[in-house]
Amino acid sequence: MDNSADQNYLDQLGRHALRFVRPGHTLGLGTGRAAAAFIRALGESGIRVRGVPTSNASADLARSLKIELAELRDVHRIDIDFDGADEVDPRLNLIKGNGGALVREKIVAAASRRRIILVGDEKLVKRLGARGNLPVEVVPFAEAFVVRRIRALGLRPNLRRDYAGAEFITDNGNIILDCGVREIRHPARLESDLLRIPGVVGTGLFVKIATAVLVASADGKVATLRPKR
Ligand code: A5P
Repeated sequence: MDNSADQNYLDQLGRHALRFVRPGHTLGLGTGRAAAAFIRALGESGIRVRGVPTSNASADLARSLKIELAELRDVHRIDIDFDGADEVDPRLNLIKGNGGALVREKIVAAASRRRIILVGDEKLVKRLGARGNLPVEVVPFAEAFVVRRIRALGLRPNLRRDYAGAEFITDNGNIILDCGVREIRHPARLESDLLRIPGVVGTGLFVKIATAVLVASADGKVATLRPKR
């Protein structure tokens, strides 16, 4: 899809997701292009909700649209979290984190009663890892040590840089290692292997987290996938 077609399907997906939203809801506001499309649709809808943003970028966008924001610490429960993903497998396990917000995204997802993921059909894969990258957030102090440990697991970690070539720093003050991967046979096992490395703050593997995935295709249709568990 070219850029404008891309934006059209995202806008459509954002509007489609509004059908799950009720006035008074507290919503998780994800990060990335699909989540931003949802936040814009929410702002335009005028539905009165509170949003818990997963990044400074999503907070800024929501604020610019006059969406009320809340801190996670002040929220008793989040009704629905809306977010994007980089890969979705047939069990609706996900890889996230190309936008660098994976840690807060996972926290807000865990704090939410339902989690709705918005993607284009190009994100559907047979097995996680098919697109070759797994982001991992790491405490900067631990970088060299974590790189060695991740290599020992058979992954190929690379420090993420921003457009100017500087280290990409997350909203939590950490670095991201983009780890080259092959198809991941056991995502839950890889997740726990990575989390056992001191200095790893979080990974882009979101296993058994999605309540539903809304998938947009180029013909303008949106399909709703739910996990078979
Ligand atoms: C942000 O850290 C990511 O998890 C995004 O949700 C993910 O990369 C999908 O982003 P897009 O909607 O921009 O493709």
